[in-house]
Amino acid sequence: MDESRSRMTKDGIRIYEAEDFAGMHRAGELAARILDDIAAAVFPGQTTGEIDRLIEEMVDAAGAKSATIGYKGYKHASCISVNHVVCHGIPGSKLLKDGDILNIDVTVIVDGWFGDSSRMYVAGKLSRKAERLIQVTHDALFKGIEAVRPGRTFGDIGAAIQAYVESQRMSVVRDFCGHGLGRVFHAPPNVLHYGRPGTGAVLEEGMFFTIEPMVNLGRPETKVLADDWTAVTRDKSLSAQFEHSVGVTADGVDIFTLSPGGKFHPTWG
Ligand code: MF3
Ligand code: CO
Ligand code: CO
Repeated sequence: MDESRSRMTKDGIRIYEAEDFAGMHRAGELAARILDDIAAAVFPGQTTGEIDRLIEEMVDAAGAKSATIGYKGYKHASCISVNHVVCHGIPGSKLLKDGDILNIDVTVIVDGWFGDSSRMYVAGKLSRKAERLIQVTHDALFKGIEAVRPGRTFGDIGAAIQAYVESQRMSVVRDFCGHGLGRVFHAPPNVLHYGRPGTGAVLEEGMFFTIEPMVNLGRPETKVLADDWTAVTRDKSLSAQFEHSVGVTADGVDIFTLSPGGKFHPTWG
């Protein structure tokens, strides 16, 4: 890869060039299209393993690569996190049942650029409390995205998310965060979904990163299961997450992973 065209801040955050936004849009759009198309495969009686198999097929059909297959020994094209699973749920043979909510997280590589996004889905009928959790989590992501512009800080993003989630009497997970990405999957900075305004690195045009808040109906604490991947809420409360990959522009933000079909909410799918 040609590193000479981009520079790094003192915090180790890469600053990409104007032409690099197009590469991120191609990768982000594929991740978003897969998340659009997979909605039809989510129903009671379906397995998360079959959903993952379909995702892998879609990545292949697009001539792209999955970023997660082979990543630290991970074997799947997606993470599928059901109900009280916070993130990094491993697809498998368990059957979805009516009312289960799930996050599907897909990361693809297109021409070397990484597109990373996740959304919430429901198998069958969405309960009122799950619907509220999902709406709050979605809106929290957008509070974070709205805080993105040159001169603001990463702490401003986290503070906006945390203030909104806590105003709705839900909690923000502290144990996992968003991340820089671009020509790599995970790069500085850690994008925290909580924090204080004005703290952290200053946002600059050309920074690419994810915002991916996880919100719990109960307490924020998580634990990782014996499989060394699956993170769950300690109190077994329901958890939700949405993720977009974004870039900082001269006057705001460019979202790389917006749904081509405008479908981002399980009840709109
Ligand atoms: N896509 C996840 C993220 O948002 C990372 C998944 S890594 C895996 O950063 F190996 F668990 F797939
Ligand atoms: Co991510
Ligand atoms: Co992701």
